[in-house]
Formats: sequence, C-alpha cells, structure tokens
Amino acid sequence: MPDCRVSKVIAREVLDSRGNPTVEAVIVAGGVCVSAIVPSGASTGRHEAVELRDGGKRFLGKGVKKAVSNVNSVIAKKVAGMDCRQQADIDNAMMRLDSTLNKSQLGANAILPVSMAAARAAAATTSTPLYRIIGGMSGNKKFSIPVPFCNVINGGKHAGTSLRMQEFMIVPVKFRTFKEAITAVSETYHALKGIIGKVYGKSSANVGDEGGFAPDLNNAEQALILLEKAVEQAGYKGSIRFAIDAAASEFYNGSHYDAGRLYRAEELVDYYLDLIRSHKIVSLEDPFEQEDFDSFAELRRKAKIQIVGDDLLCTNIGRIKTAIAKKSCNCLLLKVNQIGTLTEAIAAANLAYKNRWKVMVSNRSGETEDSFIADLAVGLGCGQIKSGAPARGERTAKYNQLIRLEEDFGLRMAGF
Ligand code: PGA
Ligand code: ZN
Repeated sequence: MPDCRVSKVIAREVLDSRGNPTVEAVIVAGGVCVSAIVPSGASTGRHEAVELRDGGKRFLGKGVKKAVSNVNSVIAKKVAGMDCRQQADIDNAMMRLDSTLNKSQLGANAILPVSMAAARAAAATTSTPLYRIIGGMSGNKKFSIPVPFCNVINGGKHAGTSLRMQEFMIVPVKFRTFKEAITAVSETYHALKGIIGKVYGKSSANVGDEGGFAPDLNNAEQALILLEKAVEQAGYKGSIRFAIDAAASEFYNGSHYDAGRLYRAEELVDYYLDLIRSHKIVSLEDPFEQEDFDSFAELRRKAKIQIVGDDLLCTNIGRIKTAIAKKSCNCLLLKVNQIGTLTEAIAAANLAYKNRWKVMVSNRSGETEDSFIADLAVGLGCGQIKSGAPARGERTAKYNQLIRLEEDFGLRMAGF
C-alpha cells in the first residue's frame, strides 16, 4: 500500500501571465512533492468565489500575501495528516475552516491550489495519471481528448481596443487527432497574423492577454471576416468553425449593450441570430449580462447552437440550477477558481451532464504554466476546452499536455 498521508503543505507567491502575483501550493505526501498554481480572471463574474487580491499596485498589496499565509498557517495544519486520495475530505475540511459561502475568509486562491495539489499528490503517490484520478472522483470512465476552442482575436477587457466582445475562437471540428487539430489551428493563427498585418498594419498583430491578436476593430463582423479569410488561406475551409465569448457584462451599461453601437437585449438577440446565420458560429458564451437568465433562454430557444454560461453561472451549483430551470444555456463553462475546490467543480460538471448539458473546461485570462485543466478536461471526458491562442507558454502548456496525453495513452479526440 502506498503511503498517501500529507506530511507538509506550503504556499508561496509566484507570478501569473500578466505579471501579477498568484499562489502556488506545494504538498509533500508519501515521499513525493507536487505543486499547483491558481490562475486569475479579469472579466470576473459577480458571483465567483472570492480571490484575495488587491487592485492597482498588487505587488505592494496584501491580498495574495494573505492567501499565502492562510495556507501556511491555517490550512497546512488542517490538511497535514490527511490522505491525499480523499479529495472530498480535504476540500470539505478547507470549506469548513473558511466557513463562508464564497470563500472570502481564507480566499479561493488559498483553498484551490491546495485542492489541486492534493489531486496531483494522489496521482503521484499511486503512480496514476492525473486525468484518471479526476475520472475516479467524477465517476467518469470515458476519457477523451477535448476539442480545443482557441481564442485568436482578443477584445474587451483582454485587449483594451474598440472591439467590445472578448473572444473570437476557432474550433477545429473535422480532425481525427488532437495533434492534427492543433496544427491546423496554429497554421490558421499564423495566416491570421499575416492578414491582420497587411490590412491594419504590423503593430495591429500584437497580442492580448490570451495570446490572440488585438487589432483595433469596431465590431464582431470585422473579426469574423478576418477569421474566415485566415481559415481559407490556411486551407481549412469546412473543417474549422467559429465560437464567440462576448463576455457581455463588460459592455452592458444598465440598459443597453455597447457592441459597436447600442443594443437593447431584444435587439442583441437578433444581432446574434444574424451573426450565427452569416458565419459558421457553433458556440456563443455569455451573450448577455450576468443576471439576465431570460435573454439567454430566448437566444438558446431561437439559435439552436451551443449557448455557454460563464459569468452567468460562475461554476456555482445554485446558479446552474436556476439556468436549468429557465433553460438559459446548454453548456457550462467550468472554471475551477470560480468556485474554489475541485470537489465542487466536479459536482457542477456532473449536474450539467445530468441535465444533458455540455461542459467546456476553461482557462483564465491571467494564467500560469500549470497544465492542470488539460487533465481535468480529459478526466471529465467533457470533450471541450478553451485555453486561449495556440501561442504563449501559459496557453500552450495546456495544449502541449493534451498532445502528450493523446500520444502516451492512445486517447481519442472527442467530436463536436
Ligand atoms: P477571464 O476571461 O479569465 O478574464 O474571466 C475568460 C472568460 O471570460 O472566459
Ligand atoms: Zn467567458
């Protein structure tokens, strides 16, 4: 029997991809030492678990330091001696210690890295791949490599340009293997760079927070036309589709949406329907602001494509139940740091499945080199992941892990 008892938990401050501090947790158990780092969002939902951080000069602030010290003092004492394979016990113990509904006492950025590191410790002490440990927790046995939704044009809060919608993704749908799919994505990404450079000038092909290009576009059509040209030039017409994360809470002013011009919610429904009809859009995330369950439902009913809830749901069981009752979406965006423990994130995914929704595992705009979510998507067998552009280390860390998992374990890619 392997020794799986946690002998030590420590945390430290490290940097995320935006150069902001975040938390890394290290767990020593049964002679192995593993670690995990938490990411951080920019267009965060109102109902996310609380990340202890500071605005402005964050390195001088106390939030992340507080999260680190919460791990090193309170959490470490509690988790030491526990069996790292008992994920639910560890997560529940941390939730009890925190005692709030939104993890504002200890911080989701203190609890989550320990939760993730515990799963890694279970994998390492039992010589089991991490994705299988996650499969064991969730009850899933059908492992697959997810279809990547790659964000190649960045707008909204991730770019600071006039383009108000946040993410324009390319989705490789007709490929046998992940390796072929991600190759097609990267060739399209490079074609796009050339086209943007020619049309808008070289500096317009600089990149935003998730590694996608950030030309100063005025509206979604301009972005979609660029994507269509790039796909055609790269030779993948017919095998790459498009997806949008509007992140609409960020351009809602309380009565109207400012997306190139002002739209009321009903007008925005029609605008989306037009976009879907004229371009090959297969998935639309956060088309309305985060409290408008009804407009989501209206679009879901009329559009008949995948409608994804991110800020609307915040990986939160209560909000997912509301969206199920109101038929607001048919896909859950799964972000572990929105809820703060692996156990709760997996419960959210299972609730979505039970109601015949899809699940898309997602990165944050402030990411790290930790590839955990690649194993999470494979372990849940959810079939979809978004991890930004096929460029920049914090994004490719996940795609590269998927290349490894496909090759090492002979896993098949999911269809879309
Ligand atoms: P965020 O963006 O990490 O800044 O929230 C990602 C998303 O909205 O999906
Ligand atoms: Zn989103």
